[in-house]
Amino acid sequence: MKQQISNNSVVGMGRYVDIHCHCLPGFDDGPATMANALSLCRALVKDEIAVVVATPHQLGRFDGKNEADAVRQGVFDLNRELKSKNIPLIVFAGADVRLDERIPYLIEADRILTVGDNNQYLMLEIPHEVFINPEPLIAQLASDGIKTIVSHPERNEFICNKPKTVLPWLKHGACLQVTAASLSGDFGTAAKMMAWNLLRSGQAKLVATDAHDCKTRVPRMSDAFRLISKGIGVSAARRVCIENPKKVLEGKVLEPAANSVEQEVCG
Ligand SMILES: [Fe+2]
Repeated sequence: MKQQISNNSVVGMGRYVDIHCHCLPGFDDGPATMANALSLCRALVKDEIAVVVATPHQLGRFDGKNEADAVRQGVFDLNRELKSKNIPLIVFAGADVRLDERIPYLIEADRILTVGDNNQYLMLEIPHEVFINPEPLIAQLASDGIKTIVSHPERNEFICNKPKTVLPWLKHGACLQVTAASLSGDFGTAAKMMAWNLLRSGQAKLVATDAHDCKTRVPRMSDAFRLISKGIGVSAARRVCIENPKKVLEGKVLEPAANSVEQEVCG
C-alpha cells in the first residue's frame, strides 16, 4: 500500500522533511545494522526532522542490488522498529539512483524507486569522477511524466566550473537538491559557494541531508535552516527545507527558494 504524507506528519516534534537519507540498515554505505540505523534516526529526530525518505543507492556500484521491493520491505521494517521504540520519525521509500540509460525501463519494470514511491520525482545522482550530461535522460523522464531531482550538483567539480550546465536540465523541469552540510562548507569552499548561488538564484528548490551516519555524514538540516534564514530569509528556508520537500511526496510542483524568478548563476 502506498504511503501518504499527512499534515500530522509535520506538526510533531520535528518540522523538516528530508527527501535524501541513507538510513536503511544493510543496504549501501549507510548504517550496517538496525541498531546503527536507529541511532541515525534518533539523530534525524534531534535535527528536527519529522519525515525522511530512505534513499539507498541504486545502480552504479549497487547495480542488481537494492531493488524496489527490497527497499520497500526495509522501510516497512524500519518504520516498525521506530514505532516500537517510540522514535517519532516516519520513513518513506525512495532511492538515490546513479545515472544510467536503463532508468526509464527500470522504473516501468518497478525495479528502481522514485522519491516517496509515487512515480512523480526521481532522485538522480550523476557521477563525480567523470561528467556525463544527464539532459537526454531528464528529457526522456519528463516525457514519461516523471520529474528529475538532481542530487547535490554543488558537489560536482565540472558543474562548479561550468554552472550554466544545469540550465537545459531546468528547462526540462528538473529540480536541484543541495546538501544541507554544503551550506556550512563541509564539502569545501567551491561546493559551499555553488550551493549558495544555486539557492539564491532560485535554481535549487530543495535541501536534504544525504546523511549516512552519526559521525562524518551527519544530518545538518537545522543548521541549514538557520543559515538560509539568516542569508536569504525565513520564508526561503521554510520553502526548501519543509514546503518543497513535502510537495515532492505529494507529487506537486515546487516553488523557487528565493522570491525572485529563476536567474542564471554567475561564475
Ligand atoms: Fe546520497
